[in-house]
Amino acid sequence: MKILPDLALTYDDVLIVPQYSDVPSRRKLSTQTKLTQKIKLEAPIVSANMDTVTESDMAIAMAREGGIGIIHRFMSINEQVHQIARVKKAESFVVENPLTLTVLHTVGDVKKIVEETYTGGILILDGGQRLVGIVTTRDLLFENDDSKPLSEIMTKEVVTAPRDTTLEQAEKILHEHRVEKLPLVDKDGKLAGLITMKDIMKISEFPKATKDERGRLAVGAAVGVKPSELKRVERLLEAGADCIVVDIAHGDSKLEIDTIKQIRKAFASAQIIGGNVATAEGTQRLIEAGCDAVKVGVGPGSICITRVVAGAGVPQLTAVINCAAVARPQNIPVIADGGIRASGDVVKALAAGASTVMIGSLLAGTDESPGLLMTRKGHRYKVSRGMASLQANVARKVREGEGDITQEEIEEYVSEGVEAAVPYRGSAREMLSQLIGGLQSGMSYTNAHTVDELYEKAVFVRMTEVGLIESRPHDVDVM
Ligand code: XMP
Repeated sequence: MKILPDLALTYDDVLIVPQYSDVPSRRKLSTQTKLTQKIKLEAPIVSANMDTVTESDMAIAMAREGGIGIIHRFMSINEQVHQIARVKKAESFVVENPLTLTVLHTVGDVKKIVEETYTGGILILDGGQRLVGIVTTRDLLFENDDSKPLSEIMTKEVVTAPRDTTLEQAEKILHEHRVEKLPLVDKDGKLAGLITMKDIMKISEFPKATKDERGRLAVGAAVGVKPSELKRVERLLEAGADCIVVDIAHGDSKLEIDTIKQIRKAFASAQIIGGNVATAEGTQRLIEAGCDAVKVGVGPGSICITRVVAGAGVPQLTAVINCAAVARPQNIPVIADGGIRASGDVVKALAAGASTVMIGSLLAGTDESPGLLMTRKGHRYKVSRGMASLQANVARKVREGEGDITQEEIEEYVSEGVEAAVPYRGSAREMLSQLIGGLQSGMSYTNAHTVDELYEKAVFVRMTEVGLIESRPHDVDVM
């Protein structure tokens, strides 16, 4: 046995000392950072791979705001692939398989499709898949004869563009011709996709969005360490996952290191994130195994009971400082995972050397997390639960079609996470805006113009519990 000489600290043990600042406008400060060696983010926030936090809706919201979401792994491979595909389709400006009918269909057919899908315009093809017309809701306005063939009512002069039309070219054509829809056709006149004004406008609404090289929203996916997980990795990468998070509770382990090595060997260009670790030595081992980023945090999460059950862990600020000290000189970003309760914790995590923070429960309370919004005693809330909780593991079995958990399995299961109600917090966008606004304020107090400068310039001061009391609203009744 030995005892380390230094006291380990966490976010509430410290404050960042204010420094002379020449920042003119904190809201304009860049919060650009890196998730992995290759993936850049405008917002250093990652949504946790938890089944009460990140599925496709959350991942879409996160990427649109400049962060990224990691789809959890407590589902079948097919389902996880489907979740990735949904994110990848969300912001694509080309609809790959637009709704179509043929000239032989009738007014009745098109009315039914419009009603069912709320689509404003249906493309009409001939027998050889060539585009020959379009029927919009305007064409249907005074059309009472449902048996009339579409060839009699469709607009035949359709403005089209070639298959490889860029976003800028499409915008110009749509504007010039004052049309809402631009079908893409190949050289034989066959339909090859559709660009709509609505989709283009949606893209310009999110200028900070995290995108892949094909202009699609970026998203990550978590995998485990069983040998069969290599198949999962392959399918996820095929579906377009931008990074793979090899995520287990004790990442400084042979199982984790062997899995990372296997993935690196089989998929040389994949961006791999390994974790979780809490020591410099563990970080170094994951880097040597081939990681592009390291996830740090053993036990700091809001729903974790690892430290209670196993007695193991390292207070999070010290863990981040020690791991970043090893990773940063090797250009490997650190993700500070767990324990973020407010924007001040984000500032402290990045000042300690992390490049991003991963957030669970704060985001579990937003609209985009999976699960229902509930009301109890007049308060609205959602559920957050640890992935090592009994509840999450029962849900996983059912979801993967393995049937209900047996009484014996319940009795044997050693839970390292709890299930909890978290207050409803509005949209993920609002939450991110608060976190980023707070981060920018923290940067301005430190005279940091970039996230890297925050690390270089920050000076922490330790405080007593009395200091912590003084740091929060006190001696008042907060309304
Ligand atoms: P927050 O504090 O943001 O933390 O809710 C989210 C992180 O907690 C970790 N996590 C767990 N840790 N038992 C644990 O010890 C669990 O059951 C568990 N589930 C999630 C995980 O790192 C997550 O990102």
